[in-house]
Amino acid sequence: MPPEIKIISDISKDQSVVYITKTDAFPGDIPLSPAEMGYAKKKFAEKEDVIHINSYFKSTFIVRLKDELPHYRVMEELRISACIIAGIIKKLSLSSLVISPFSVPGGSAEAFTEGLLLSAYRFIRYKTIDTEKEGRFPNSILLHGLENNFDLNQLTVVTEALFLTRDLINEPVITMNTSALVKEIVKMGKQSGFTTEVLGRNRIEALKMGGLLGVNKGSVDPPALIIAEWKPDEHRNKKPLVLVGKGVVFDTGGMSLKTGNYMDGMKTDMAGAAAVAGTIYALAKTGIPLHVVGIIPVTDNRLGGNPLVPGDIITMHNGKTVEVLNTDAEGRLILADALSYSSHFDPMLVISIATLTGSAAVTFGTQATAMMGNAPEEMFSLLSESGLEVYERVARLPFWHEYGEAMKSDIADLKNIDNREAGSIKGGKFLEFFVEAPFIHLDIAGPGYLKADDHYRKKEGPGTGMRLLYTFSAKLARQLWENNK
Ligand code: BES
Ligand code: ZN
Ligand code: ZN
Repeated sequence: MPPEIKIISDISKDQSVVYITKTDAFPGDIPLSPAEMGYAKKKFAEKEDVIHINSYFKSTFIVRLKDELPHYRVMEELRISACIIAGIIKKLSLSSLVISPFSVPGGSAEAFTEGLLLSAYRFIRYKTIDTEKEGRFPNSILLHGLENNFDLNQLTVVTEALFLTRDLINEPVITMNTSALVKEIVKMGKQSGFTTEVLGRNRIEALKMGGLLGVNKGSVDPPALIIAEWKPDEHRNKKPLVLVGKGVVFDTGGMSLKTGNYMDGMKTDMAGAAAVAGTIYALAKTGIPLHVVGIIPVTDNRLGGNPLVPGDIITMHNGKTVEVLNTDAEGRLILADALSYSSHFDPMLVISIATLTGSAAVTFGTQATAMMGNAPEEMFSLLSESGLEVYERVARLPFWHEYGEAMKSDIADLKNIDNREAGSIKGGKFLEFFVEAPFIHLDIAGPGYLKADDHYRKKEGPGTGMRLLYTFSAKLARQLWENNK
């Protein structure tokens, strides 16, 4: 659970406080001794970003904004400073912290608070003895006044949704198998107000979803397809936004077995599914007036029984045939069926999110999500803008038809791999053959799985894509509302 937040109007002398200031404005009256004040002013003159004065029973922090940077960078620097301060607070066991912004740009206190909240996440369910300090630090965050537009409820809900998303990803497959993931998402629906429908093996067979069934052939657990729907009475879109998330609860590669350390971290191969579930949870809990449908295909990709083998040809939900040349390119097979199923909803836009290709991670490292598709430009712009705002940046890749041609097979309609070139784009192009509506594909293989903490983005599953899709959806709802006025 994240720390609790309260709003206060006065700061008492014995409280730990962080003052957020502009580059050149030393905060006015801070309760410090003359010696401490001298130290603080010296550090300020030396342009230190985070100044810490430890006065025994309390700490005082001064965070200097880098206000020469673009606004979205200033906000990210604040989240990072908050994470650094969270580390100090934990070491000193300070239970509460006051946040006091001092003539700073709008959004500063919110970004700082967000950084503090998100830094508190730890996946420690399985530690019988906690070697680090117990509890969460700070226990409570006290906001000195509330700045305009600071939506406290939204921040709390998004944090909670992100923690749930991270928990789903971090849980290993021994506990988070197909049925457990289904159960957790159904529970999230009940808690927040979105509805869920779960299709089991029989329904999936009746729908002739050869991709999902094919990947599942080596598993002892049946596959599932989750339909999550948030349709508030006052929704602004005539056609729904459909979000499709890859839910491979573990990816061994199947018969094209992953070698060396390539299997490490593959419990996070359902990070797309988790991001979709977390997004719809937050949309429902904050009551965003948008009709959104999540479609989540779930299975593990394992060896056992009679698994798919290279050369197999399968028939997909939309009737297209696929030559499976590599069973490790399984994400596109299960997503293809989910994407063609999206046509039932006649969507305004379909977005898929998936840890799809190592190629995307090679291209962008952990800094960006690969984005591609055929949707109208405004949709890409809105995603890019949302990406900067939450600092989950998206980087666009071309989506030329030649890349799609490369995915055609000599003996079936399509093949699931080509050569190593342009792997992420070709993965996206393969998916495009199964979508009828405007389409955007997000490949989160890079930032979706971290080997080490990146400040407040905690390893292993930081939940990348959840804050992005939530912000995008909320902006879309607002835009539709303004256009209809
Ligand atoms: N789940 C992997 C992609 C992945 C790799 C995610 C590394 C996160 C980190 C995916 O199913 C996969 O194995 N893709 C193959 C595709 C290839 C066979 C065309 C890959 O990227 O190697
Ligand atoms: Zn794979
Ligand atoms: Zn995979």
